Amino acid sequence: MSAQNKADDSGGCILWFTGLSGAGKSTLSTVVADYLQENGAKVELLDGDEIRTHLSAGLTFSKADRDINVRRIGYVARLLARNGVIAITAAISPYKDVRDEIRATAEREGTPFIEIHVNCDIDTLAARDVKGLYKKALAGEIQHFTGVSDPYEPPTKPEISVDSGRQSREESITIIKEYLAERVIAKKTA
Ligand code: ADX
Repeated sequence: MSAQNKADDSGGCILWFTGLSGAGKSTLSTVVADYLQENGAKVELLDGDEIRTHLSAGLTFSKADRDINVRRIGYVARLLARNGVIAITAAISPYKDVRDEIRATAEREGTPFIEIHVNCDIDTLAARDVKGLYKKALAGEIQHFTGVSDPYEPPTKPEISVDSGRQSREESITIIKEYLAERVIAKKTA
């Protein structure tokens, strides 16, 4: 491994949010990004919707294209993290093997990978339906919709797990902040 591929030991890491559409990844990751910035960290947020507008424009929601999308996000996150940035990602990233592959590569480079599972039951998501996509997916108007007609493989050992169907937003944020205060911010300022 060249020196360029090694984490620079300045506290960069990857915070990898994963979960179904509408579960709260974007909301929670934005709050977390602000919190870390307020505590002096350099932060970049790679949001799924934004990545699909820019870096992954034209990709579909087939397994092959999702894998390409998620690997791209992982690649950029690794580049940022090994230069001291806290790279926060918020894409569904439905397949466990690809998430685990990105984790393994990051950890090999010395970059901590912190997986945050944003859980939410499908009934709550369908009732919330902020983007109106669940209604269409359940009516069969959108094919291969994650959690309805396409798989979502939850992490088996996420560092952090929250449940936006059972917890308030504040409760979920507190759980994430407590972990980060101890494991990320304390390390950066040590
Ligand atoms: S991922 O599977 O490749 O990680 P990503 O996070 O980029 O997905 O995009 C998910 C967003 O795309 C959803 O929040 C939703 O707004 C939209 N979307 C459109 N079609 C689908 C679909 N078939 N499955 C899931 N999300 C979809």
